[in-house]
Amino acid sequence: MKKIIALMLAVVFALSMIACSSDNAKTTSTAETKTEAKTGDADSTNKDEKKTLVMGTSANFPPYEYIENEEITGIDAEIAAAIAEKLGMKLEIKDMEFESIIPAITQHSIDIGLAGMTVNEERLESVNFSDSYAKGVQVVIVTEDSSIATIDDLEGKKIGVQSGTTGDIYCTDDYGQENVKQFTNGALATAALKNGQVDCVVIDSEPAKAFVASNTGLKILKTTYADEDYAAAIAKDNEELLKKVNDALAELKSEGKLDAIINKYIPAEGKAE
Ligand code: ARG
Repeated sequence: MKKIIALMLAVVFALSMIACSSDNAKTTSTAETKTEAKTGDADSTNKDEKKTLVMGTSANFPPYEYIENEEITGIDAEIAAAIAEKLGMKLEIKDMEFESIIPAITQHSIDIGLAGMTVNEERLESVNFSDSYAKGVQVVIVTEDSSIATIDDLEGKKIGVQSGTTGDIYCTDDYGQENVKQFTNGALATAALKNGQVDCVVIDSEPAKAFVASNTGLKILKTTYADEDYAAAIAKDNEELLKKVNDALAELKSEGKLDAIINKYIPAEGKAE
């Protein structure tokens, strides 16, 4: 009899250890995260655990998303955390190339994309967008001694952009592919401007300010290239999440929390309107 009890205890102990370790894997490990993504298991959960909202971003875009102390932080990360809280979900953020976000949404390896992403017609063909939560502006970064003074001067110049962004799309349309050099992120495009590989960089104004501030000898032209709306991208077949996200955003707006997050990163006087 004693032996049977001891055996039962051992089994219970072993089972609880397994439960514990799978718990840990879920909350922390990125490797685990990637496997989850590949199996298309973005919203899988254990019965008694909170559901996970898996967000995709491209953390090279301060102050919307960037890496600090090995963690993804910024406006989008905080807004997503606030949305997840409203939805009673855990938030998991996956960092990827900007161009991979929409495919990841359509393949359901992520639930939502927040990446200072501009709403445009082409993207609307593949994903739905939430209500807009911020404004964006495309600006031009040049060297302080540049001969480029207005948008008209961009003709025939070598323009650096972040691949797949609206800056890339506009410049390719307006000035031709041969004049546009694509980089995987804005910091690399800015570095290329400093060392003379490109004559200017077209990018969103807030990251532009951050890149100019962390480099010497660069400035942003006073004229803006395009005004845009940022929104969260969600799979077309996930209307339920779209509605929940819009409701959460509306609440965050009316509670003043959305503004509080944005103002924390973008001082009011510097805000693009
Ligand atoms: N607003 C631009 C776009 O939607 C650039 C966004 C880039 N975002 C990023 N996280 N790198 O195309």
